[in-house]
Amino acid sequence: MERSDIIFESEEFRQMLLQASAMEEPPVKDGSLRQAWFINRCRGIVSEREQKLGRRMTFCVVTFGCQMNERDSEKLRGILQLSGFLPASSEDADFVLYNTCTVRENANVRLYGRLGALSTYRKKNPSMKIALCGCMMQEKDEIERIRSGYKYVSLVFGTHNLYRFPELLCRCLLSDTQIIDVVDRDDTIVEDLPLERTYAFKSGVNIMFGCNNFCTYCIVPYVRGRERSREPGDIIREVENLARDGVVEVMLLGQNVNSYGKGLDREVSFAALLQEVEKVDGIERIRFMTSHPKDLSDDLIEVMKGSGKICPHLHLPVQSGSSRLLKKMNRHYTKESYLDLVSRLRGAIPDLSLSTDLIVGFPGETEADFQETLDLVRRVEYDSAFTFLYSRRTGTPAAAMEDQVDEKTAHERFDRLLSLVQETGRRRSSRFEGSVQRVLVEDVNRQDSTLVTGRTPHNLVVHFPGDKEMIGTFADVLLTQAHGFYYTGREMNASG
Ligand code: SAH
Ligand code: SF4
Ligand code: F3S
Repeated sequence: MERSDIIFESEEFRQMLLQASAMEEPPVKDGSLRQAWFINRCRGIVSEREQKLGRRMTFCVVTFGCQMNERDSEKLRGILQLSGFLPASSEDADFVLYNTCTVRENANVRLYGRLGALSTYRKKNPSMKIALCGCMMQEKDEIERIRSGYKYVSLVFGTHNLYRFPELLCRCLLSDTQIIDVVDRDDTIVEDLPLERTYAFKSGVNIMFGCNNFCTYCIVPYVRGRERSREPGDIIREVENLARDGVVEVMLLGQNVNSYGKGLDREVSFAALLQEVEKVDGIERIRFMTSHPKDLSDDLIEVMKGSGKICPHLHLPVQSGSSRLLKKMNRHYTKESYLDLVSRLRGAIPDLSLSTDLIVGFPGETEADFQETLDLVRRVEYDSAFTFLYSRRTGTPAAAMEDQVDEKTAHERFDRLLSLVQETGRRRSSRFEGSVQRVLVEDVNRQDSTLVTGRTPHNLVVHFPGDKEMIGTFADVLLTQAHGFYYTGREMNASG
């Protein structure tokens, strides 16, 4: 991946760094100014160490999980860079930070594997600091495991105090003992933290945090806390700043964007927010995720239909096709109402691409329930689908349900579902063959440097001849051949 390493600090934060540099003590009030003070302090510590070492100090942030975590990691990297660390290309670094996920058991297994594998680097560099943060760190059992079995981890913090990272980093640099700072909840939304953007031309934008839905299988509401929406003004200001900085595509992020705005002093719907984002000059493409089917409004459908910027692609997780299981999952829709929603969406936006998430092996799933899922998948014809084996998460209602499905049956159903979604996806995704699509060029092709890779509005990947100068620009590309989930093509002459 072509890394841009852009530090994106708002003018507000730049001012705060200046203001904080004149203060002897950190401001008592928590917030960006206090964190700015600690960034200045870290910078001092890092530069002193560098003089002693006779070399620059480096960091590496590794992200597990979803786009929320990716976005959080951009903030963590921004803070580390402003604190004076240089980015390293591997975990052979002075400060290694894992931003963890715990949505399924295998996410946890992977983390411990990676931690163990750090031992060679630790031997080489005994003063290396290892830190853990993110969703998994909100679980008491995991904290105990780190405390007792992973003493070499220097710092642990959670999802609610991520904005306090500068302060924690500073403490960690000055201490030799393990620091664990995890809080159960924090409703503060701290604006204006700096971040390092992975791409120059596209960016995620958090519009809300947390989740109130408590789907019975899901751990996210427990580790991310209650749903909180950002003020629309703050969101628009961020999008405007991004546009000024050359960003052409934004992805609005939330666990359930369709319920955006609830609880704000002046409630604003997601559809209304989209209309505001649409007005920002320079932004050419708008995407969002995730949409919960139960909250998708007719207003949103209308706004998508009338928009010149919102991409015709919707991620609409269904989880199961069995109304009985959907009820047990606490999803608040049925197979019929979901299918009805899909037909309303397709009626309004005929070319819409749909993707979804599916869970196989939820407690009590019978062959008949599973057949309902297969039937739904056949009827909807998804462009793509993520299929997951149900994973039992301690503390969720589903973990305590009797009749857990045995592993063999779950795996066998998983394989059947996977081959169906792949077959449908391949067929659906090839429907643009022979057409010309506007492609945002994202990267040089990794296997063949004479090609570039980009995405169509429907989120399909296209490889075509080009060079790195084209990254971040749009091209009209003839999709000459469909290859399952991607295309090859060639750029059309602007005049032809
Ligand atoms: N907020 C989003 C999803 C976040 S988690 C939404 O509601 O759509 C992403 C996906 O992980 C979910 O859609 C679900 O399919 C899957 N998932 C969540 N918990 C799971 C579990 N315990 N076992 C298996 N898959 C799970
Ligand atoms: Fe989990 Fe459901 Fe919230 Fe999505 S909406 S994060 S699946 S509880
Ligand atoms: Fe994982 Fe947390 Fe996202 S549990 S899926 S990183 S919200």
